[in-house]
Amino acid sequence: MVDSGNLLLADRQVPVVFRILKMMNYAGVGIGRFDVHMIEKYCKAAKEDGIPILHISPEMPDGAVPYIIKHVGSIRVGIVSFGAVKLNQNDFNLRKLRYAMLRKARDESDVLILLDAADVVTDQEWLERHASRLGSPDLLIGNHKFPGFLEPKLVGKTWIMPLGAQAKYVGVVKIEAGPNKELKVNATRTFLDESIIEYPDVKKIIDEHLQSERELAKVTSAAVTKMLASPSSHGESMTSGVYYDSRTCVSCHKSQYDSWSKTKHSTALKTLVDKNRVIPACLSCHSELYRQKGTYVATDVRYNQSVECASCHINVLPHGNEGPHKDIKVKIDINNCRVCHTKEQSPDFEKKPSEYWEKAIHRS
Ligand code: HEC
Ligand code: HEC
Ligand code: HEC
Ligand code: HEC
Repeated sequence: MVDSGNLLLADRQVPVVFRILKMMNYAGVGIGRFDVHMIEKYCKAAKEDGIPILHISPEMPDGAVPYIIKHVGSIRVGIVSFGAVKLNQNDFNLRKLRYAMLRKARDESDVLILLDAADVVTDQEWLERHASRLGSPDLLIGNHKFPGFLEPKLVGKTWIMPLGAQAKYVGVVKIEAGPNKELKVNATRTFLDESIIEYPDVKKIIDEHLQSERELAKVTSAAVTKMLASPSSHGESMTSGVYYDSRTCVSCHKSQYDSWSKTKHSTALKTLVDKNRVIPACLSCHSELYRQKGTYVATDVRYNQSVECASCHINVLPHGNEGPHKDIKVKIDINNCRVCHTKEQSPDFEKKPSEYWEKAIHRS
């Protein structure tokens, strides 16, 4: 099993998920753009559990390898990953390094799997044009530039796997060795439905984790409530160090997500990109990821790291199917808004706070 990346984990989930991946015998995990700010954490957890993080970058973090070769019977399966990298890395060196590693992996393998969470392959035409230089990977996984098809698709020699969102299915690849040793690769997918048996060991790890999160949520919520009660302490103290991506909320809160998507909060990072001001002094209010992690990934502004759900709702997080714990205060104090809507940055806010409030509460 391999995963191209974008595991979308919160800090405390990282060791838990890697323990589970280990139990499931994962060969390697790539890095997507939603993981790159966590790469050191992923590498640490992966190292502890003996799963390589597949990654290519001029600055390789400890615990990452550019590719692996797995032996399946007598067949050598190469797995290489073009994962997302942090922004400050030189494009040209990176490209050179990626292609060099791909060629090496190709030379050492019979079947080559390319994890492309960085969307290096931009479209079908690109793939056809560059296939031979890329060593014609047999399988392309995790690329967002091929949306809108559900079954694996063969382009030249390369099977493109559809993106598997929300763990709804896994890709399955059959490799057959023909009589003249020519390999036939065939890709399908299998749905993860209720007929799949749950591993008791895995369930136990998850239950324990959820229980400890519930305990922690009670403590965090009490601390946030206390902090908001003293007006002098807004500001940095709103940060919890845990980043919640807005897309982790959409499956349960679609209408709020849609209405938030129409507000400027959802494009606050883009505002900085357009002004060429993706700098800490501005990110401190315009990006939730930066507020929590002191980092940002401006690779693709379609994905949000702006003023997100958690920028306003941090006091109820985390929660899952059951919603926030009943002890937790769900109402938002308008002082939370003033953390960013200061006199300097938002002079109109104090003149008409209720108008601002109305626009923010998901009525549209
Ligand atoms: C983490 C910082 C932050 C917090 C907290 C915050 N805002 Fe904002 N808000 C912004 C930024 C930044 C913008 C401007 C976005 C842009 O134009 O790029 C903005 C813009 C707005 C706008 C204009 C939106 C539009 O679509 O025209 C409204 C209204 C608003 N905020 C209301 C609120 C209210 C009400 C709260 C509290 C419930 C709140 N904000 C909390 C940072 C924040
Ligand atoms: C203290 C938090 C904070 C900081 C720091 C901050 N902003 Fe903002 N910014 C806001 C808020 C809040 C708004 C929304 C203002 C409103 O609509 O009342 C906003 C709005 C904007 C807008 C939209 C204004 C418009 O008229 O559409 C731009 C552009 C902008 N900010 C750029 C920047 C830049 C560039 C920096 C860094 C130099 C920066 N901001 C730093 C909070 C902040
Ligand atoms: C697995 C489903 C699920 C996910 C994912 C989820 N929530 Fe919830 N949430 C709930 C349920 C259930 C409730 C309680 C019932 C309700 O109020 O809708 C709730 C309640 C809330 C409330 C309080 C609503 C109130 O009654 O005032 C807020 C705010 C909230 N969620 C925000 C979020 C944010 C932000 C995220 C993403 C970081 C998120 N939720 C992710 C299921 C979920
Ligand atoms: C600018 C701040 C802000 C942002 C960003 C924001 N919300 Fe809210 N949200 C509010 C406010 C204010 C309310 C009204 C609740 C209250 O009175 O405290 C609210 C209410 C809710 C509720 C309660 C049900 C309802 O619709 O009233 C849910 C659920 C919720 N938000 C989810 C989300 C999710 C999911 C996101 C991201 C997609 C999000 N919110 C982004 C400010 C925000």
